[in-house]
Amino acid sequence: MAQYDVIVIGSGPGGYVAAIRCAQLGLKTACVEGRETLGGTCLNVGCIPSKALLHASHQLHEAEHNFAKMGLKGKAPSVDWKQMLAYKDDVIGQNTKGIEFLFKKNKIDWLKGWGSIPAAGKVKVGDAVHDAKNIIIASGSEASSLPGIEIDEKVVVTSTGALELPKIPKKMIVIGAGVIGLELGSVYSRLGTEVEVIEFLDTITPGMDGEVQKTFQKLLQKQGLKFTLGAAVQSVDAGKGKAKVTYKLRKDDSEHDMDADVVLVATGRRPYTDGLGLDALGIEMSQRGQIKTDAHWQTNVKGIYAIGDCIDGPMLAHKAEDEGMACAEVIAGKAGHVNYGVIPGVIYTHPEVANVGQTEEQLKEAGRNYKVGKFSFMGNGRAKANFAADGFVKILADKDTDRILGAHIIGPMAGDLIHEICVAMEFGASAEDLALTCHAHPTYSEAVREAALACGDGAIHM
Ligand code: NAI
Repeated sequence: MAQYDVIVIGSGPGGYVAAIRCAQLGLKTACVEGRETLGGTCLNVGCIPSKALLHASHQLHEAEHNFAKMGLKGKAPSVDWKQMLAYKDDVIGQNTKGIEFLFKKNKIDWLKGWGSIPAAGKVKVGDAVHDAKNIIIASGSEASSLPGIEIDEKVVVTSTGALELPKIPKKMIVIGAGVIGLELGSVYSRLGTEVEVIEFLDTITPGMDGEVQKTFQKLLQKQGLKFTLGAAVQSVDAGKGKAKVTYKLRKDDSEHDMDADVVLVATGRRPYTDGLGLDALGIEMSQRGQIKTDAHWQTNVKGIYAIGDCIDGPMLAHKAEDEGMACAEVIAGKAGHVNYGVIPGVIYTHPEVANVGQTEEQLKEAGRNYKVGKFSFMGNGRAKANFAADGFVKILADKDTDRILGAHIIGPMAGDLIHEICVAMEFGASAEDLALTCHAHPTYSEAVREAALACGDGAIHM
């Protein structure tokens, strides 16, 4: 068997990026993956396919709602669901094959099969046991359902089943108003499904800036999504092509039920570490099933590292990628580092929602002296021209030093706009630094600059 410097277990964004960086740094590298294709949850059944369906359904929404206003007359296109799914599968294929190409280019061996670690320095795949000086576990996460609720991926589905329903349902109940529930709920709502979202807490998207939460909920309601908040789902009874969801309202404990053709359970994900043999190795785990690591992603067993969804922190592809690169650098004897204070979060609905750094609620709780600069897309010419003037940019900065502490955007291309603020924060910039930077006109980015101006002497177009 070949001797490797590094074997990475899992080829999701954490794993494949770690493998590529290891190879680039001159380490002999292999990556274990049991799926038919590389790319993990993100490329196969997560980020990428959901973005394809969000894109296609958004085009339909534009045709139905905005084309005529621009003088583009005629019937909006009808939906060929089979073709839409084929388009989504084609996008997946292009992306997963892209990773295969990158593996070949970087001379990374793909060890096909499910891996386990029989001992430190050894990785077993099928009947073969390979030697590795270092092992990086990047085994990701899986959907976590609610107790007693059985997922059949037909009527009661996770995000995986929701990406390949045989037909567009008439009615869908989404359990959980988090990222997955709202992205996929938006897709089906745009395609004509009646979507009801049931959420345990009193707000959607827990942990997000309060003002954004309120605006976001209003905009989604305007698009037709219905919300039942403060409701704890008790059970889901699935029959043939139908399901009944029973929930209790937390304010008065009253019990209610609701029927639908499809129920999407989007109540979070949990680390996936089954079959790796971590118990026998004595690898320390948290109570939430995450692999514990030190600041350099090394577990308590020397030479075994872990990154991404299976360790602590937000379950985000780009957080896993950053850890993958940094972990590879540490193994290669360099100074790998991840700035956990500047990890953006994005929800790819329409409008998009993006955030980085602290929320206003967190700053208040910490007793920080802060100021708020806010600018509505109503004052942005480009957004108005594109029927995209809903939402705002909000920048939070230290009142004394003007240093940017956080930013929250709901609006067009928010997921792209957030990055200039990430870069600014990475460099420890002040709001004034952003405000003094010339921004091209007419762009959505001007709204970011205006919010930065609003932290100082005031925005111009408001
Ligand atoms: P989530 O943690 O974002 O949201 C789950 C929601 O379900 C919460 O609001 C929670 O209060 C609610 N909930 C829990 N139990 C409930 C019950 N019994 N009844 C009603 N509501 C209940 O989890 P989600 O959306 O499943 O996403 C999983 C992970 O995947 C997240 O960490 C997310 O960040 C990540 N992800 C990120 C994406 C992105 O960056 N765009 C896209 C998709 C997923």
